[in-house]
Amino acid sequence: MATKVPSIFPLCFHFIIVLSFVATVIHSSTLDSDIQALRSLKHAIDPTSISPTTFLSSWDFMVDPCESTGEQFLGILCSNPLDNVSSRVIAIDLDGVQYDGFLTPSIGNLSELTTLNLSKNKFRRTIPETISNLKKLTTLSMADNYLTGTIPDSITLLKNIEHLDLSGNRISGSVPVNISGLRGLTYLSLASNALTGTIPDLTGLWQLKTLDLSANQFYGYLPDLPVRLTTLSVNHNILSGHVSPVKKLKNLIRLDVSDNRFSGLISDDILSLTRLVYLNVSNNRFEGIETTNLSEEETQLQVLDAENNQFHGRLPPKLVTIQNLTQINFAHNQFTGPIPREYGERLERMWRILYLNNNFLSGHLPPEFVTHTRRVRGNLSRNCLRCPTIIPLCHGGQRPFSECLRQTNGSK
Ligand SMILES: *[C@@H]1O[C@H](CO)[C@@H](O)[C@H](O)[C@H]1NC(C)=O
Ligand SMILES: *[C@@H]1O[C@H](CO)[C@@H](O)[C@H](O)[C@H]1NC(C)=O
Ligand SMILES: *[C@@H]1O[C@H](CO)[C@@H](O)[C@H](O)[C@H]1NC(C)=O
Ligand SMILES: *[C@@H]1O[C@H](CO)[C@@H](O)[C@H](O)[C@H]1NC(C)=O
Ligand SMILES: *[C@@H]1O[C@H](CO)[C@@H](O)[C@H](O)[C@H]1NC(C)=O
Ligand SMILES: *[C@@H]1O[C@H](CO)[C@@H](O)[C@H](O)[C@H]1NC(C)=O
Ligand SMILES: *[C@@H]1O[C@H](CO)[C@@H](O)[C@H](O)[C@H]1NC(C)=O
Ligand SMILES: *[C@@H]1O[C@H](CO)[C@@H](O)[C@H](O)[C@H]1NC(C)=O
Repeated sequence: MATKVPSIFPLCFHFIIVLSFVATVIHSSTLDSDIQALRSLKHAIDPTSISPTTFLSSWDFMVDPCESTGEQFLGILCSNPLDNVSSRVIAIDLDGVQYDGFLTPSIGNLSELTTLNLSKNKFRRTIPETISNLKKLTTLSMADNYLTGTIPDSITLLKNIEHLDLSGNRISGSVPVNISGLRGLTYLSLASNALTGTIPDLTGLWQLKTLDLSANQFYGYLPDLPVRLTTLSVNHNILSGHVSPVKKLKNLIRLDVSDNRFSGLISDDILSLTRLVYLNVSNNRFEGIETTNLSEEETQLQVLDAENNQFHGRLPPKLVTIQNLTQINFAHNQFTGPIPREYGERLERMWRILYLNNNFLSGHLPPEFVTHTRRVRGNLSRNCLRCPTIIPLCHGGQRPFSECLRQTNGSK
């Protein structure tokens, strides 16, 4: 007997361990306030906008969100607690299926969230101030909804944020001044809203790669910008002055400043930005383009859209030294003189799109324009050229003689 006791004792001990392990699993379900916050998120959405097979329709509160399996609670991720603590919701990444509702302040209770993505839905009203409680957020995307109101100043408390996308809403007011305190930002899009004011100093956002402020009502000058930017879009605003601050952005790949009131010259240090592929300066008041000091080998530029500016003088012959350029649009400017002979060779070999219509160009076309225009999309009409109408590029006709004469006299 005495020998049996020690052999049973470890067995009982094991049993207790197993029991307490089961207890642990049972108790480590979702933190109650997280469940409440998920409930109120779903509750604030018009049930008729939640169709079957969508993520939100799978949110069935009969089961525990973080313990759910299979097809329940799609669109959330939870932390896996190691000991006897509750699970927490760490990501909400909903499908974009036009859920129609609003965000309640209880969203701020999900304090372990790192990702909140509610893009492409119909969330209305304002962004709750309590969003600033989500201190661990790295991704916040509410793109393409119907949010109104202003960007809460408290958003600048989200110190871990890397990706912030509020584009495609109806947000008004100005950008919080302290937004450059969000030092980890790599992506910032506030495009397509009703934001106004000047662009604040963002140079503190030294990690920022993408900045999209397009389609708002920003005015004033373009400030110095974060040096690591690869994509800058400020198109469709009412910005004015020079674009010279972009000279410093050595990593730029795409630059769109179109549809503003910028003026001055497109200097060759912008054209020579070594990684720049896409440059859109159309619909502004630029007066010219500098190509004298173009560093030919280095530039990668493929697209140059300068339509509808106030460029005058001769077309720049040195444009042909930009090896990778294939799309050029100089339509609706005031260029005069002949089309440079050098353009012929590029048209034959490299250029795919060439719009020069609505200028005051004159004289004969380079011979290659006559022989090789079929592969090229473009337009030479509304100039003062000798442009044989059998050439597709010439369809549309030239200016009347009187307009050409006036321009020639005017430019003397
Ligand atoms: C959620 O946060 C609000 C304040 O925003 C608070 O009043 C409420 O009690 C919280 N709910 C839970 C379930 O913790
Ligand atoms: C685990 O925590 C719950 C409350 O959160 C408590 O009731 C339970 O006794 C704890 N279990 C253990 C083994 O500590
Ligand atoms: C957010 O969700 C939308 C719609 O489901 C998706 O297209 C987008 O890629 C997501 N964004 C991020 C940053 O995860
Ligand atoms: C900006 O930050 C400074 C210092 O951190 C603070 O004093 C100021 O109140 C903040 N301004 C706004 C508008 O949040
Ligand atoms: C340049 O921007 C204008 C808008 O201002 C747009 O219509 C045009 O398509 C853009 N050009 C290119 C080549 O993308
Ligand atoms: C071109 O570069 C030279 C030498 O660096 C400089 O003296 C000249 O002013 C530049 N021209 C233009 C138009 O920028
Ligand atoms: C530019 O052209 C060169 C030579 O054709 C090519 O090697 C290079 O990859 C091109 N650059 C880009 C950005 O396409
Ligand atoms: C060329 O431009 C003229 C005037 O802007 C226009 O009438 C004509 O349809 C255009 N032709 C083509 C082929 O785009």
